[in-house]
Amino acid sequence: MTPTVLVLNGPNLNLLGTREPEIYGRDTLKSIEAACKKRAKGLGLKVAFRQSNNEGDLVDWVQQASKKYQALIVNAGAYTHTSVALLDALLATDLPVVEVHLSNIHQRDEFRHHSYVSKAADGVICGLGGIGYELALEALACRLGTVEDA
Ligand code: DQA
Repeated sequence: MTPTVLVLNGPNLNLLGTREPEIYGRDTLKSIEAACKKRAKGLGLKVAFRQSNNEGDLVDWVQQASKKYQALIVNAGAYTHTSVALLDALLATDLPVVEVHLSNIHQRDEFRHHSYVSKAADGVICGLGGIGYELALEALACRLGTVEDA
């Protein structure tokens, strides 16, 4: 069976394309999803994309993830910097987790420098725009053994 990666997106990421394009670029979440689906195919993976503005939805999805999915990519938006609840859910899952941010959070406001998600992530990709999601898929394909390590 083809392993499926669940890609979780937090608050305001539904606004990509029009939200502060000088920071987040012009890609929409739909176009990032389409690019990931294409890239996943070549990597022997499938992807499922979700977005919510609500912290509890993200916690629920992480809790349920291991029943159906083999890995997680998480861009928790602002909950990255605030949510102990999301961190606890991620610590409780045994799935591999890659944290992604479109922007380079370390170049931005001080309050964005700390990530709770990072404490539970196997790896972090930030500052590369929408491509970051595709790079996370590549890393997970190596981890899941659908492609050979570079
Ligand atoms: C973000 C960075 C966060 O600080 C911000 O709150 C977001 C998006 C990113 O992808 O760059 O909503 O996660």
